[in-house]
Amino acid sequence: MSSESTLVSAAHFAYLSARTTQEGDYLQRLKRAAGEAGIPEICVAPEQIAFMGILLRLCQAKRVVEVGTLAGYSAIGMARSLPADGSLHTIEFDPKHAAFARKWVADSDVAERITVLEGRGEEHLPQFADASIDAVFLDADKGGYPGYLREAMRFLRPGGLVMADNAFAFGQLFDASPSDREVGAVKAFNDHVPTVQGLEAVIVPIGDGLWVGIKR
Ligand code: SAH
Ligand code: DHB
Ligand code: MG
Repeated sequence: MSSESTLVSAAHFAYLSARTTQEGDYLQRLKRAAGEAGIPEICVAPEQIAFMGILLRLCQAKRVVEVGTLAGYSAIGMARSLPADGSLHTIEFDPKHAAFARKWVADSDVAERITVLEGRGEEHLPQFADASIDAVFLDADKGGYPGYLREAMRFLRPGGLVMADNAFAFGQLFDASPSDREVGAVKAFNDHVPTVQGLEAVIVPIGDGLWVGIKR
């Protein structure tokens, strides 16, 4: 056995996915309804929700901020890993997405824990006080990530958790001429993260690549 890592293939992803805690009936129905409502099918993978939930429990997160709500899938998934008096603020720019998410949050088992804030990430993040938040999840416009991370490093408490989606740029990280216009922004963010003072971080190869970091 060499000291090199196993090259993770599509078969490995299918294998781990089949053995990971599932998202449950409500989130499956939410995804179906979102698709029928014409909302893009770009929520995080079930194994990301499982992993993020474990991380939130490990750091005993009570206050969480998300940028990029879409249909509320990841917000509901994460909120289930918070204590009953925990809170998750999720920020969404698109009014249609925010309205859909509000309805599905209201009907969920974690309605009391979630607040959907309509507007841009950069507009809402300054309201969170210094060192007052336990965890942040970035999953909105990729060009906004460096600014969101800068704010997060201010409002996270020491030991706070940073998570950011799509480190593998929608599967187009190594494409010579990618079709998605945000690939360049993802690459720039991936190169920026290691330069951020006071942050220890790793890309975890689940879903479309999940940045996981901790504020020292
Ligand atoms: N976290 C969700 C998926 C988010 S998809 C999940 O896993 O379930 C990205 C979302 O970010 C979209 O709904 C898009 O409208 C929103 N978005 C894009 N730019 C934004 C911005 N500047 N501020 C807040 N939300 C934004
Ligand atoms: C896209 C955005 C995401 O956050 C994601 O997880 C997948 C795709 C997109 O904009 O195409
Ligand atoms: Mg994403």
